[in-house]
Amino acid sequence: MINDNYYESYDLKEDLHFDSKVVHGGLGCDPITGAVSFPIFQTATFRHRKFGVSTGYDYSRLQNPTRQELERTMAILEEGTEAFAFTSGQAANMCLFGLLKRGDHVILSDDIYGGTFRICEEIFSNLGCEFTYVEMSDLETLKKTIRPTTRMIFVETPTNPMMKVADIRKIADIAKENGAYFVVDNTFLTPYFQRPLTLGADIVVHSGTKYLCGHNDVIAGIAVVKTPELAEHFRGQMKSRGNGLGPFDSWLIIRGLKTLSLRMQRHNENAKKVAAWLRNHPKVKKIYYVGFEDHPGYEVNLSQATGFGGMISFELDSEETAHRLLSEVKMILFAESLGGTETLVTYPLTQTHESIPDEIRQKLGINERFIRISIGIEDPDDIIADLKQALG
Ligand SMILES: Cc1ncc(COP(=O)(O)O)c(C=O)c1O
Repeated sequence: MINDNYYESYDLKEDLHFDSKVVHGGLGCDPITGAVSFPIFQTATFRHRKFGVSTGYDYSRLQNPTRQELERTMAILEEGTEAFAFTSGQAANMCLFGLLKRGDHVILSDDIYGGTFRICEEIFSNLGCEFTYVEMSDLETLKKTIRPTTRMIFVETPTNPMMKVADIRKIADIAKENGAYFVVDNTFLTPYFQRPLTLGADIVVHSGTKYLCGHNDVIAGIAVVKTPELAEHFRGQMKSRGNGLGPFDSWLIIRGLKTLSLRMQRHNENAKKVAAWLRNHPKVKKIYYVGFEDHPGYEVNLSQATGFGGMISFELDSEETAHRLLSEVKMILFAESLGGTETLVTYPLTQTHESIPDEIRQKLGINERFIRISIGIEDPDDIIADLKQALG
């Protein structure tokens, strides 16, 4: 029965295998009614039974049982102490960077998602924080970039969109030696393939909009932390910024997570086939896919993850071919985002990485000929057939 908190009244299923954990979540079913689908607590506030007697819930900006079920599930999947579900990946990162104070320095991957770059350069720079972007596979440069004021190292691995791989264990050691928080954006691989907290990271963030949701129907963000102190930080940020995920959107992510293992397996298999086909296409001049044995990050990725995910980027022979591909795809959709059941092609130059200054983009290789594709779970032959006709 219910104690003063819904959660403390129930056995958690932490001893299950990962594929069962995604299905059974935190509480899994409703402890009161037995409803197998976790209820959507669509309420702003909670009644107190009498003075001094509470159910443990006060107001949904602070806690909501449906959001809490999602958060508990994500803490279990990422093997953290607590998780927090936000209204977007951007909102999660805003709360993350709330750890910074004036004068703090942060080192980030050099081709991070454009929105993360924008948070750094357009919001926290103005508050007196400093940011340096480095190629994270170059650990010597990373070490040289560290300052006494470096408070955080933030990596994506693989990165969006150049698919560079960072060595989580080694960077965790560098961060620890220098007293900096180590944060991994695990959006691309998800805990199905990679669990950074078990490899030394302090915080994992996600755009929950992507594989965790999996169906291109919710915008959400997740942060998972290793320590109770960091949990207090995110709890306070969510309370003050008021950006906790709503009950219905939380429920949709809980539902999406139930098939995370199945979807990730399929994304991974499909991407392998599509990448192999793209590599041999005469109009594809460069291809960035972590699952190729000659990818510079292949070995490191295998040492810390059990798969490669569903993301591929490639450079075409001309801007015209790139525009043709985006205009001519039929089953594949030309749309921003990634990680859903549908295959999406994206033009990072004007979409996801539009906020990055052009000179940096060109240096990284995000040019007029550059395409990113999120391989869905359709029949891979249909994905290939569509790419074939669209490339001409
Ligand atoms: C790697 C990565 N991190 C964070 C974000 C931001 O997430 P959201 O769009 O849910 O705010 C994105 C969005 O594309 C992303 O690709």
